[in-house]
Amino acid sequence: MKYAHIVGWGSYLPEKKLTNHDIAHMVETTDEWIYTRTGIRERRIAAEKETTATLAFEAAARALAVADIPPSQVDLIIVATSTPEYVFPATAVQVQDLLGATKAGAFDLAAACSGFVYGLDMASQAITTGSIETAVVIGAETLSRIVDWTDRGTCILFGDGAGAVVLKGSSVPGGLLSSILRADGSGADMLKMASVYDSPLPMFDLDFPPERENPKRIEMNGRQVFRFATRVVAESIVKVVEDAGLTLDEVDLIVPHQANMRIIEATAKRLKIPVEKFFMNVDRVGNTSTASIPLALCDASSAGRLHPDDNVVFVGFGGGLTWAAAAIKWDVTPPDVSFDERDWQRARYIWARFRSRLRQAGRQLGARLFGSPTPDARMKDARRDAERK
Ligand code: COA
Repeated sequence: MKYAHIVGWGSYLPEKKLTNHDIAHMVETTDEWIYTRTGIRERRIAAEKETTATLAFEAAARALAVADIPPSQVDLIIVATSTPEYVFPATAVQVQDLLGATKAGAFDLAAACSGFVYGLDMASQAITTGSIETAVVIGAETLSRIVDWTDRGTCILFGDGAGAVVLKGSSVPGGLLSSILRADGSGADMLKMASVYDSPLPMFDLDFPPERENPKRIEMNGRQVFRFATRVVAESIVKVVEDAGLTLDEVDLIVPHQANMRIIEATAKRLKIPVEKFFMNVDRVGNTSTASIPLALCDASSAGRLHPDDNVVFVGFGGGLTWAAAAIKWDVTPPDVSFDERDWQRARYIWARFRSRLRQAGRQLGARLFGSPTPDARMKDARRDAERK
């Protein structure tokens, strides 16, 4: 029997802070309104050159440093995100390349803000069945790129960032104890962002770039989401704790999706447990969707809120509607090592980048030297070259 243990964790936040006061210069709102309704004071905004993949890479590299596992030993990379740079290739594959995780499979997971817990469940199942040994699960977002900065109902909430955990198989009981994944598509309209398909561009009008009347942005019915969240978060915690064979009293720490302080307070009230049992960092990072749980986990670790043998619960909810929870036996003593102290690890990632470029160059050279891979096309190429001459 194999158990999936969290053995590494890491996060990355962009430098740039956007405070409520800054937002008050952009839309009609105040720091006081935002803070009392959400608990948010500031959030981070990705720099121009940062993408979901670069944020995800930074978090994953830190998590691997804590786990002391080289990327070459990673079997699977899952990136939960709602802000992939491309429809394809997956952000996870970009991360695989940046890490130089040469034997890893990689895919993205779309379950909105529940995505990290979904990914954790998927990776853990793969480990417990023996199909893989080591996985990196990442939540990463550049939500600032899809927020409507003129809509005060939504732009106050979201921020950018990434968090990651490394999961490893072990015969020692513990790690992921139980998990639940849920969805309800009837609530799709409550929180959504349309994809490129929702843009009925006339195919015969070749004016390019096409004018977009409605650039795609997050749309949300805040009140309905609030109601949904307070109900499912409480229910999921109760179910996952029960499935793990625990009672609520035996839970040491709950790391919920950091959407809103009031949702967390309402959940604590519903469950009749002290709000202190919930870890919160929403004041400093805002709602970072898939990144929020692993980001909060890292902050909880830095704040000394995680101890060996603690029972920890993750709970996420969001667009879809989706929601998910996981109960974990926290059985690692955080190592006394920070990523910066392992600067030499950077050399590994510089090599990974060099290796990737080398492979690209090799492909281009191969195409030039050997031409097309099929005989027909090769003949066509030869005929064209002859005509040119
Ligand atoms: N500043 C000032 N006033 C604002 C405002 C802002 N940023 N945003 C909305 N308002 C106004 C509204 O226009 C409305 O004014 P009106 O009464 O004159 O029409 C009033 O405040 C109340 O709006 P409402 O949308 O009902 O506010 P609310 O109390 O529900 O708070 C949210 C709005 C978004 C903070 C709240 O609904 C919420 O947190 N929902 C959950 C969202 C969430 O967590 N989403 C992510 C899930 S993953």
